[in-house]
Amino acid sequence: VTEPDLAGRHVVVSAGGTREPLDPVRFLGNRSSGKQGYALARTAAARGARVTLIAANTALPDPAGVDVVRVGTAVELREAVLRAAAGADAVVMAAAVADFRPAVYAAGKIKKKDDQDPEPIALVRNPDILAEVAAGRARPGQVVVGFAAETDDVLANGRAKLKRKGCDLLVVNEVGERKTFGAEENEAVVLGADGSETPVPHGPKEALAETVWDLVADRLR
Ligand code: C5P
Repeated sequence: VTEPDLAGRHVVVSAGGTREPLDPVRFLGNRSSGKQGYALARTAAARGARVTLIAANTALPDPAGVDVVRVGTAVELREAVLRAAAGADAVVMAAAVADFRPAVYAAGKIKKKDDQDPEPIALVRNPDILAEVAAGRARPGQVVVGFAAETDDVLANGRAKLKRKGCDLLVVNEVGERKTFGAEENEAVVLGADGSETPVPHGPKEALAETVWDLVADRLR
């Protein structure tokens, strides 16, 4: 039996991965499936929350009873998250956001030219949505949660990132080509700005989602 400990709360979850277009047919993207974000949305709804799920390029069916907003790029994700976050009790950024986007969007398909080296792709920085949400908390006590995929020095990098982003909780997991992205299971440590460290053993993404909501609910009380 799930406790409705998020009843009356509005939570915002981002999921999936952004795609940054180069031209009408090509983009820079990442391997995020959106499964962890969808698990967060489903479990929050089961615990009684009103849920807004901002989904970036996912191929998953809309979870029942959840408001889904579909976006493509980091800039679109930012707009949707900031709009939804305005009245939210908690914001969980599970989406994999591209750090950079192509500086130029070619309106027509980029052509290869014979006997010519390819042009380098110039990139510009995308806004850091998590840091922006954390810095500008829409209401006092709003709980802001980030995710960090790290390949080495997982805990040390996680602590530094938690500080840099200014969020309340940071879910840190180790990633590799066959780890986490697209998988059904996950393993993580949830770091708290209060110094707490909550290990989540290898298990379904739902279990990690429940731990995140336990920690969020504690902070909302
Ligand atoms: O810096 P890094 O990409 O490792 O941070 C990951 C966390 O920050 C995730 O929660 C992700 O959703 C968020 N993020 C963001 N905007 C960016 C990059 C990451 O909100 N431009």
